[in-house]
Amino acid sequence: MRSQDELKTLVAKAALQYVVPGELVGVGTGSTVNKFIEALASIGSRIQGAVASSEASSKLLRAYGIEVFDCNDVGQLPVYVDGADEIDARGYMVKGGGAALTREKIVAAQSDCFVCIADQSKLVATLGRFPLPVEVIPMASQRVARQFAALGGQARIRLDNNCPVKTDNGQYILDVTGLRITDPLSFESMVNQWPGVVTVGIFAHQKANVCLLGTSDGVKTVRYD
Ligand code: A5P
Repeated sequence: MRSQDELKTLVAKAALQYVVPGELVGVGTGSTVNKFIEALASIGSRIQGAVASSEASSKLLRAYGIEVFDCNDVGQLPVYVDGADEIDARGYMVKGGGAALTREKIVAAQSDCFVCIADQSKLVATLGRFPLPVEVIPMASQRVARQFAALGGQARIRLDNNCPVKTDNGQYILDVTGLRITDPLSFESMVNQWPGVVTVGIFAHQKANVCLLGTSDGVKTVRYD
């Protein structure tokens, strides 16, 4: 039986097959992506560089000698590789456990193909088991929390050492429990329109095209389109 850590390494290495030689690669955030960055270092000279979805990933990429480009200085990327907190059978995901959801959605939107790398524990029948991360402008946090309460959700500001976590964009994260998201496309559109919401961590409009799922039998490739 492989450990969760081994499964993450397995899918991270498998994602290298989607990296296009001579091109840029979009790189997400999180513990699975950290393993992908490590794997990417082994083929570093064969890629032009990376566009990262967080300061943490940028730092790690640079530490491995991979050049990091700003989104505004590059065009469409062939591929974006990132993890997920939950993924369903349609490729819809919940993301943002690492607080990088807004930049993740931006880089995903700028990429032709979203390759999700995840261990099998992330597979769910219906999104909502993992507390839904929502990046909000601080002055709107209580109002947005009340909007979730009206839907039956409980929203809490994410804290670290009793202080609100600040994202790379200087905003807060609400973590929302008690939701069962059966129509991720509509839910994402609805929440994104609430004043003060920067990004909701539902990735339905920017869903995965492929998921490399780490299972006890090895890497399972699931395509969604
Ligand atoms: C980061 O903000 C998230 O969207 C991550 O992609 C997600 O939390 C998965 O992280 P792990 O690979 O650490 O589980």
